Amino acid sequence: MEKRTIVAMPGDGIGKVVLEECIRLLDAAGFNAEYVNGDIGWEFWCKEGNPLPDRTIQLLEKYKIGLFGAITSKPKDKAAAELAPELQNKGLVYFSPIVTMRQKFKMDICMRPCKTFKGNPLNFIRRTADGGFEEPMIDTMIFRQNTEGLYSGVEWSNAPDIVWNAMMSHKKFAANYGNHPREEVFISARILTKKYTERILRAAFEYAKERGFKGITVCEKPNVIRETSGMMLKLAQEISKKDYPEIAVWDTNVDAQMMWLTKNPENYNVIVSSNMFADILSDGFAGLIGGLGFASSAQFGEGGVAVFEPTHGSAPKYADFETSIVNPIAMFLSACMMLDHIGEKELSKKIQKAIATVVEEGKVRTYDMMKLRGCQEVINQGAASTKQMTDAIISKL
Ligand code: NAI
Ligand code: MG
Repeated sequence: MEKRTIVAMPGDGIGKVVLEECIRLLDAAGFNAEYVNGDIGWEFWCKEGNPLPDRTIQLLEKYKIGLFGAITSKPKDKAAAELAPELQNKGLVYFSPIVTMRQKFKMDICMRPCKTFKGNPLNFIRRTADGGFEEPMIDTMIFRQNTEGLYSGVEWSNAPDIVWNAMMSHKKFAANYGNHPREEVFISARILTKKYTERILRAAFEYAKERGFKGITVCEKPNVIRETSGMMLKLAQEISKKDYPEIAVWDTNVDAQMMWLTKNPENYNVIVSSNMFADILSDGFAGLIGGLGFASSAQFGEGGVAVFEPTHGSAPKYADFETSIVNPIAMFLSACMMLDHIGEKELSKKIQKAIATVVEEGKVRTYDMMKLRGCQEVINQGAASTKQMTDAIISKL
């Protein structure tokens, strides 16, 4: 195995804990790597006025692969107040290092897997007609367009003339909004390009092909949002016809899909959607398979840089516990996505199998898996600590 260099970005709060445990697991599993530390997060905002220092960007540029814990972010006024005294009143404005990283490296493809682990007490169960219940095995990969759509950041309040006039040239805008005072009209643009829509669709098709799935589901709202959602669906159909004739294109409306979440989630293996819809969809699906302790993600794209991270945040209320109680599995599964990405598929399988065994045996469970309220006492109530969970998984490798 070729030795890899991984940029390890712990971030803040529990990000530090889960990343440290993750490296311990990767070492134990035999992953041949060295880790260089990448500074990111609140600490660096406060100390340096920059939550994503240039040196971290340079490391990512150089080594291409990042493992990321989680960061803390706060509203603008709090951010300004917590800056080091010598940095205050210098016009520094807080920005999200995650969004910046995404834009900087054009990481337009985001994958969020939601897969049931047998025996997880947090699994979704469903009533059957005869009054019993069943536990569907969910295996869904959500492909989220990561850089465009409603999160494009193209927004106005009290729009300048040039924007206002352009909007007024649209009949519907003029009829429905043009009679409001301009300063009472708020606009966030939903922009999709063909290029990046095609890239996320192709990523979904490739994944379906590789795994032998029969179709992909485009989950949008083309009947209402015709220009953008409509374009995505049509493009998917064209790509299927031309390059993936064996893979069907199904489509569902995002609102209906959220309702069906509890009806037949096991029927969806590959879902592809625009930025915000996929964000909502992936959180919805994650709820069916154990929530934040199990939700992992990968993001990569044109820039050749790939970053792997749990979807949870820094959970500040648990950050300073003497014995950490949080579930490290979401971080571990993100590392498995990294291994898949760099071609270490066997190693990834080995770790996933060890996780599956621990979950199924049910002897070692973090507080979330026991449905306890998170506090330091959960350890006395039989919950495993973050370290004990890691040890249990290592013992099954
Ligand atoms: P959060 O994800 O940090 O925590 C929400 C709750 O989920 C926690 O209180 C805890 O009960 C549970 N939880 C989270 N991770 C867990 C784990 N591994 N095991 C067990 N339980 C877990 O979200 P919250 O509280 O909304 O935000 C806290 C901070 O994190 C904020 O500053 C926010 O901006 C930031 N954040 C960062 C993200 C990132 O780095 N990607 C994503 C989401 C929030
Ligand atoms: Mg989210």
